[in-house]
Amino acid sequence: MGNVTIIGAQWGDEGKGKVVDWLASRADIVVRFQGGHNAGHTLVVGNQTYKLSLLPSGLVRGKMGVIGNGVVIDPDALLAEIGRLQAQGLVISPETLRIADNAPLILPLHAALDRAREAARGVHKIGTTGRGIGPAYEDKVARRAIRVCDLAEPETLSSKLDELLLHHNTLLAGLGAATFEKQALLDALLALAPQLLPYAEPVWERLAAARASGAKILFEGAQAVMLDVDHGTYPFVTSSNTVAGTAASGAGLGPDAVGRVLGIAKAYCTRVGSGPFPTELHDETGTLLGERGHEFGTVTGRKRRCGWFDAALVRQAVKVGGIQGLALTKLDVLDGMKELKIGVGYLIKGEKFRHLPAGMAAQAAALPIYETLEGWSGSTRGARSWAALPAQAIKYVKRIEELVEAPVTLLSTSPERDDTILMQDPFAA
Ligand code: GDP
Ligand code: IMO
Ligand code: MG
Repeated sequence: MGNVTIIGAQWGDEGKGKVVDWLASRADIVVRFQGGHNAGHTLVVGNQTYKLSLLPSGLVRGKMGVIGNGVVIDPDALLAEIGRLQAQGLVISPETLRIADNAPLILPLHAALDRAREAARGVHKIGTTGRGIGPAYEDKVARRAIRVCDLAEPETLSSKLDELLLHHNTLLAGLGAATFEKQALLDALLALAPQLLPYAEPVWERLAAARASGAKILFEGAQAVMLDVDHGTYPFVTSSNTVAGTAASGAGLGPDAVGRVLGIAKAYCTRVGSGPFPTELHDETGTLLGERGHEFGTVTGRKRRCGWFDAALVRQAVKVGGIQGLALTKLDVLDGMKELKIGVGYLIKGEKFRHLPAGMAAQAAALPIYETLEGWSGSTRGARSWAALPAQAIKYVKRIEELVEAPVTLLSTSPERDDTILMQDPFAA
């Protein structure tokens, strides 16, 4: 039995948290490998709802959680989230949560820069979560990031802050935003150090040992392939690679550790923030999907844009993301709809495309080519077996499988943990 990697196959919020929580019963360790607290994963277990941003969803099952080096960590957000979940009765301690000592930190200046830039972009804004994700990844690549391990070296911290502030204060001042003072930042980081350092370690050692002992690792992706900084709808993307291959580099393991790759897709499609969305619906059907699917962002509370399932887009995500099986969620939201459409390609300036081209103008101009399917009158809500699904719902799922060129191996029929139908166990594959 190998490992499993979960990634989003659309623009995020596909229900990765629910699927990771469900599969975590079969895993020993759950690892976050990219993104930061821009992610929002909602888990519903009985009458409890857990909202996780930075913490691996497996903690809800009492499984060991690891935050890999590929994640950008806001220490204040992390400690606040740990506190919130402890208050909900979860056990989170250095025994259950380990954090890569080489992971970069998000500081208040990153969020300030993120927001100042978005304000300066005006109508051309990306619609980021404003949490400093982009600026923190920029600093990592620019080799000036402050990392978890630096918290144990006050002198390193002090000299790194000098370089960081030289860069950021220049930018912030140029954008007309408030600048930061070194001593206050240094004091704050030194005060956080004793709370954070007990969680820190070279997690690659633990993960390598876990692999050697035959333990099962579940890699929990955040965001989704269409928000990937290389393969997504650039520049309306996040600042990390979200494809499955990142699980290895973002945790400190070789590529063979990734295991079976499960892509998560909604039975329709949503997006938060700006950017192209060819199958977006601006009519009452879009409103209905939003209402029935409770489509509001977990992190920012923003209304999610809604539209039909885009099979051309998911097929692309399957190919570039390395997806071997698809988990289709929120099928229940389509219950009772007379007619369903599936995007199968695009018409761009009179030319037909089977994929979304890379160019910004081409993406913005892409009109969907649809195939229309009959809806179903019965209910899929809460279904726990394939046999309980209306025949037309099965047809819809089967057509999606053909179009995206990947098997649907798991179905989710409500937010509740156990309202899940498993066709093929990814850990057994
Ligand atoms: P993630 O970011 O991919 O983990 O997804 P989010 O948690 O941000 O958003 C998915 C939302 O849909 C959450 O509120 C889930 O509770 C909910 N959800 C997940 N699966 C289903 C499902 O099959 N049906 C319905 N109705 N809701 C679901
Ligand atoms: P989960 O893990 C949906 C979007 C933002 C914005 C763009 C860039 O819950 O699926 P960023 O703050 O990352 O620089 O914003 O990416 N975005 C998400 N949309 N779900 C997410 O995470 C997202 N994380 C970032 O809305 O459009
Ligand atoms: Mg989410």
